[in-house]
Amino acid sequence: MLMSDRPPMRSGGIISKYGDYLPEIDPAAAVTLGEGQTPLVEARAVSEAVAAGVCVYLKCEGLNPTGSFKDRGMAFAVSRAREAGYRVAMCASTGNTAASAAAYCARAGMRCVVVIPEAAIAAGKLAQAVAHGAVVVAVRGNFDQALAIVRDMVERHRIALLNSLNPDRIEGQKTAAFEVCDQLGGRAPDHLAIPVGNAGNITAYWKGFREYKEQGKVSSMPIMLGFQAAGAAPIVVGHPIERPETVATAIRIGNPASWAKAVAARDESGGLVESVTDEEILDACRLLAAREGVLVEPASAASVAGVLKLARRGYFRERSGASRRQDAVIVCVLTGHGLKDPDAMMRLGSGPLVAEADTASVEATLVAAGTPLDGR
Ligand code: F0G
Repeated sequence: MLMSDRPPMRSGGIISKYGDYLPEIDPAAAVTLGEGQTPLVEARAVSEAVAAGVCVYLKCEGLNPTGSFKDRGMAFAVSRAREAGYRVAMCASTGNTAASAAAYCARAGMRCVVVIPEAAIAAGKLAQAVAHGAVVVAVRGNFDQALAIVRDMVERHRIALLNSLNPDRIEGQKTAAFEVCDQLGGRAPDHLAIPVGNAGNITAYWKGFREYKEQGKVSSMPIMLGFQAAGAAPIVVGHPIERPETVATAIRIGNPASWAKAVAARDESGGLVESVTDEEILDACRLLAAREGVLVEPASAASVAGVLKLARRGYFRERSGASRRQDAVIVCVLTGHGLKDPDAMMRLGSGPLVAEADTASVEATLVAAGTPLDGR
């Protein structure tokens, strides 16, 4: 088939949708997998658990092409690296950045090297990096050490840095804030809840909200609510954590690169950065999976866990007040898909019941497990 016979098609993605708000780029260098345009879904069970007069929405960033929000920033950063003639790119990662970098580099025809903390990233993410052909180096250390090595390497060699220290990553990721406002019908949420690890994403959202306000696309900006895991909460405690620990391996980070920018987002928005325990994270994960039908990896559930924690303190009741004409809108960013971390997902429920391969045996097993079989 000749090129001209092909049906007209827009390949989508954040550059084609929000290019006017991004630094200029040669369209021929742009790499996309159709990232962005992720669902914003109403969360009835979470809303009910929070407070009357509050409407909670979930921004399902796990539905990006590689299963996490990283694809927005990676599309733009890899495009710009390709435009600048880089042939090799590198990142440190707790897993999702590695998966995304590997996929976008594969598509761009670039070599990708990822440095990960050994035995500390979820199985799905490692599988993605491997399958996309990245060179994976597992170091006997944590993410913060891996990032220090990568920063060193890009100083020594002509290698593009794909961590969120690269401003192009932030540019791409800020489009999520635009999208939230567009999906809400041209308004910003009252609160935006977001997990915080290396603090690139909270920085990007805040930049996006500020720019949309400056452009007159929205009339207000949200209060930013950032949540770290209790065992990896340097911003909350006010000093780096040498040995961060949490079930939410994606945000197991002790010294965030964008620490100051996260604090600025918090303070300029009148928000907060607080911590949630692993137990609260897994409870929120289970609530999302079992009541909302939304599967997320543990780090993502930190946003919902944090909102539920604040709700228990009456935080939203005070703010949403009876005098408001409309329900207060809270958007929880769900950063990564649950399938990234099958081991954590299995721990949310009970494993399979085992039966012989006949109806009577399956029936008996179900009855023994107390499963209602009368269809009501
Ligand atoms: N949620 C998920 C699922 C993540 O993978 C990350 C970060 C975050 C939240 C935190 O975002 O770092 O911008 O504050 N993952 C990085 C990685 C560190 O290497 O994949 P942040």
